[in-house]
Amino acid sequence: MTTPSTSLKERKKESFRIFDDIAGTYDLLNRCLSLGIDVLWRRRMMKELPAGNQLIALDLATGTGDVALELAAQKNVARVRGLDLSKGMIELGKVKIQNKGFSDKAVLDIGDGVTVPVDDASQDVVTLSFGIRNFPDPQTSLKNIYRVLRPNGRALIMEFGLPKNFLVRAFYLFYFRKLLPFVGNLISGHGDAYTYLNKTVEDFPYDQDFLNWMKEAGFKNTRAVSLSFGIAFLYIGEK
Ligand SMILES: C[S@@+](CC[C@H](N)C(=O)[O-])C[C@H]1O[C@@H](n2cnc3c(N)ncnc32)[C@H](O)[C@@H]1O
Repeated sequence: MTTPSTSLKERKKESFRIFDDIAGTYDLLNRCLSLGIDVLWRRRMMKELPAGNQLIALDLATGTGDVALELAAQKNVARVRGLDLSKGMIELGKVKIQNKGFSDKAVLDIGDGVTVPVDDASQDVVTLSFGIRNFPDPQTSLKNIYRVLRPNGRALIMEFGLPKNFLVRAFYLFYFRKLLPFVGNLISGHGDAYTYLNKTVEDFPYDQDFLNWMKEAGFKNTRAVSLSFGIAFLYIGEK
């Protein structure tokens, strides 16, 4: 018999297809549904880049390239490569990179965030924002992120959590379970994309549970930075 969580896991293997369908409205909905806070979270992520110049960066599940663009805008980043399985998302990202004048510094390609088809020990920083909960095998992804980092390289991973404060949590759950799926499905024109995306949030480990996964993958000096009352977390780990 198929349980709800196995069917969710099965669906994650194909989740990038949903993003192909919603790519055209993704950026607009992101800005509106997060009330613009997602922009601040990505900037916060940049504050945790490792020390050093000429950093080589990899952004997994890059989508329409918002994190790749933030990375390209940093003076101490020399090169950025963004990977995603959704052609629709990265085609939009490529246009954004060109329009912002970062074509000499940032490239986007089709690539899997679980197997991470990149040379061992080749990256100073690997970023991954709001992607890992959509992966069919997040723990293998973490092991591969560790593999491709250079010694002392850093993983910066952002993902939704669940706020601890009772009131914030109640508001958040109402927003996430009711309002966001309704508006998201309506505007994207996709039957249940945003209903599915929200289910993946409540099903996914956060805070210390996620850090335990990072430690199991080999990361040291792990820490979780709570963003906006724990609505999201930035996880940091070093090789
Ligand atoms: C919520 S979007 C996040 C995009 C971007 N990082 C951001 O912060 O806006 C999730 C992305 O994960 C991608 N994705 C899902 N499964 C993937 C996989 N196995 N490998 C690479 N990307 C994947 C989707 O195509 C989608 O673009």
